[in-house]
Amino acid sequence: MRLTLASGAVLFPLALGLVAMGCGSSSGGGGGSTAAAVSSGTTTPTTSGTAQTTTATTTAPPANTTPPANTTPPATTPTQTVNVPPTAEPRYYNPQVRQVLYTYCTSCHSDVNNAAFSAYELNGFPTDDMSFQNTVMKCDPNDPEGSLLLQKATGAVTHGGGAVLQTSDPGYEWLLNWIRQGMVKDQFSAGPRLFVQHVNPLLAAQCFGCHSGGAGGYTVGNDVNVNYQELLSVTDAANPANSEILRKNDGTLGHAGGSGWRVGTAEYDLITQWIQDGRLFNR
Ligand code: HEC
Ligand code: HEC
Repeated sequence: MRLTLASGAVLFPLALGLVAMGCGSSSGGGGGSTAAAVSSGTTTPTTSGTAQTTTATTTAPPANTTPPANTTPPATTPTQTVNVPPTAEPRYYNPQVRQVLYTYCTSCHSDVNNAAFSAYELNGFPTDDMSFQNTVMKCDPNDPEGSLLLQKATGAVTHGGGAVLQTSDPGYEWLLNWIRQGMVKDQFSAGPRLFVQHVNPLLAAQCFGCHSGGAGGYTVGNDVNVNYQELLSVTDAANPANSEILRKNDGTLGHAGGSGWRVGTAEYDLITQWIQDGRLFNR
């Protein structure tokens, strides 16, 4: 099953306006087609022109709520009431989390002259993988609400930028549920799933912690080529559902790392789709 969120596209004009206002210093990152789409003002966040095959439930775009201005954080820190339910809708770094960061954070965190930049660098939007990795590093999958990313954004812990995001803001729900869902990088709306772009970031977010030490003889870590070879060895090209990596993580086999990839999760679908697409390393 492919999941796409049509609402993502609707939000781009908002992000664009704020980018134009606040993120002029954002630079580099290369000329991916998403970057081209952003700078040319089109509203398609997908990375290729391939038609989307399925459209999941479309909800009203959360960012219709006017975001607070980046420039003047509230003087006082509001009471933090965290009562945000998990959502069945998948949240991805691309496009949802990235749009929240554009809207609320890059005015300071993409500015090399701001102290925010060295603490948490967001640069090279939208193609730079480093911004994704830096964001993941500010998150705690074992305690999503306690993630430094959210604690700083809401001002629950002292933040140079103040309280830029309220827990009642839709952007907060996007960030929180993205962390809860395992911090998946891309909304895979078009084109083949690729190891480097789609699968490796998932392994980095959820599996490196134990498996960079070679737990159970499965070793994945900072060498993307090794990770690819290892994944080939635990996948079944002829019968994706029979792949050891899925069976270890979907609850079929016991796994000290748990069973977070139940059938129907975005992670399960990604791995299955990647196998069906031919287990490609990269384009
Ligand atoms: C008005 C400027 C400003 C804005 C807007 C801003 N920040 Fe910050 N942020 C800072 C400054 C300055 C620091 C460094 C001092 C500190 O740690 O509080 C910082 C630090 C941080 C840190 C700590 C990094 C570390 O490891 O020490 C995180 C995480 C963070 N910000 C997240 C965010 C998020 C998420 C947003 C958007 C929702 C955001 N910030 C918006 C100014 C800003
Ligand atoms: C909390 C630590 C931990 C995490 C996180 C974790 N694992 Fe594991 N994993 C283990 C341990 C320990 C073993 C060996 C014992 C067992 O099979 O349960 C193992 C075994 C495996 C095996 C079987 C290796 C073999 O050849 O027998 C695979 C495949 C695997 N894990 C994949 C993953 C993937 C993919 C992720 C990320 C979604 C992941 N694991 C996350 C601890 C973890």
